[in-house]
Amino acid sequence: MKKIPRIAAVLSFGALVLSPLAQAQGNGGKEALYAKSLAATCANCHGTNGKAVEGSSVASLSGLEQGYLVAQMKAFKAGTRTATVMHQISKGYNDAQIETLAAYFAAQKK
Ligand code: HEC
Repeated sequence: MKKIPRIAAVLSFGALVLSPLAQAQGNGGKEALYAKSLAATCANCHGTNGKAVEGSSVASLSGLEQGYLVAQMKAFKAGTRTATVMHQISKGYNDAQIETLAAYFAAQKK
């Protein structure tokens, strides 16, 4: 009889751990896949998941603040931040995509 609460505890703990995973997989994981695919278009220069390879002259994006990333992309787009390539690249993304990219990179480990 004493075992029942323990099982309940294990089950509810499992639900706690698994529900964020299930949420991330919502839409059959389509949103997560979409964000990852968008971010992959930056990987050539900024590294996989925004983590630049050591010694790279291009900055890492991983772990930067979401608001900072959005502001930089918009500044490149508007031409208020000078750039060699980013003013061109940023023009290929709408505001919603910039938000998705910024959220993705902000969530990555530095
Ligand atoms: C062709 C290479 C290349 C690609 C692809 C590229 N970047 Fe960049 N990025 C750069 C370079 C170079 C800079 C430095 C500014 C400049 O000279 O354009 C930069 C700078 C940045 C910065 C400013 C970083 C800081 O520390 O202030 C952000 C943010 C950024 N890129 C985001 C992105 C995102 C998001 C993508 C994908 C949608 C992307 N970049 C794709 C080359 C690239």
